[in-house]
Amino acid sequence: MKKTILTGLRPTGNLHLGHYFGAGQNYVRLQDDYDFYLEIADVQALTDNFDNPEKVRKNVFEITKDLLAIGLDPNKVHFFIQSQIPEIAELTVFYSNLVTVARLQRNPTVKTEISQKKELFGNNGESITYGFLGYPVSQAADITAFDGEVVPVGDDQLPLLEQCREIVRKFNSIYGNVLKEPQQVLSKTTRVKGLDGNEKMGKSLGNAIYLVDDDETIRTKVMGAVTDPSKIKKDDPANPDVCMVYYYHKLVNNEENINKICSECKQGSRGCVQCKKELIEAMKSFLEPIQERRKFYEDNPEEVKKVLEEGTKAAREKAMAKMCEIKKAMKIDY
Ligand code: TRP
Repeated sequence: MKKTILTGLRPTGNLHLGHYFGAGQNYVRLQDDYDFYLEIADVQALTDNFDNPEKVRKNVFEITKDLLAIGLDPNKVHFFIQSQIPEIAELTVFYSNLVTVARLQRNPTVKTEISQKKELFGNNGESITYGFLGYPVSQAADITAFDGEVVPVGDDQLPLLEQCREIVRKFNSIYGNVLKEPQQVLSKTTRVKGLDGNEKMGKSLGNAIYLVDDDETIRTKVMGAVTDPSKIKKDDPANPDVCMVYYYHKLVNNEENINKICSECKQGSRGCVQCKKELIEAMKSFLEPIQERRKFYEDNPEEVKKVLEEGTKAAREKAMAKMCEIKKAMKIDY
């Protein structure tokens, strides 16, 4: 029997190349070998977007289209909407007895996020909500409701997995051996830098290429990418290793071109404008099949709904069965 994979994404925006190389590509690789549950974590997205329900709802569909566009096959992957699985909310309540507030406050991922969201949670996290502080508990419910054994995540999520394992051990020690401890699989590719060389990519930084970007947007973004600052004239030799244009060529271009670009850059026989134009073309070719698949789902929104409905139905059945086991163990199976 195939092992179960469970992972989730917060629907707060479209996917960019960082998501694709960091996680998406990995999902596509894993879908053949596992029973794959992919949660669109709208409830989790609401923990820091509770004042913007429209944004979350819209992005449930946007992110599903992006994921289908990169080649996730709805016949292999159960796409489901977190809020439609009441068992997750129920489990979150049960697990909340098994974790201390102090432990949640020490969770490194939660700590970092609180410090990044000053507007919402105050300068020193003094306005932190119960819901946001507790989202690792809800995430433990996401995983264990499906007996998720394998969880593909980025390294920023490791503290959440550790917290989940602690809850599982505590639960099992009190109520009997019912829950599975999940293991993470880290994605092979490292984090992708922004076009400006920033370690982080994001909408607010304006340094990310989104899977949905049109040709004009790609052109503007690539033309603004950071190159070797020591190169002044077109035929100055330069160092491709400090150039974001070369960095992106390495992601989306073929090996022959990459080698040619590298040596020409070092020799000074390649200007940056030319190099950027070639990157724009390479980027467009790279995104073409993705955007083509995406267009099918844009033109057929009922197909997207169907994928979510069927996935959610399968997920619900699995979670309900697990819930029976859990309630029995907790002696609340009246
Ligand atoms: N916390 C994850 C993120 O912000 C999303 C997520 C929700 C998740 N539920 C999950 C990841 C369960 C792995 C397993 O990206």
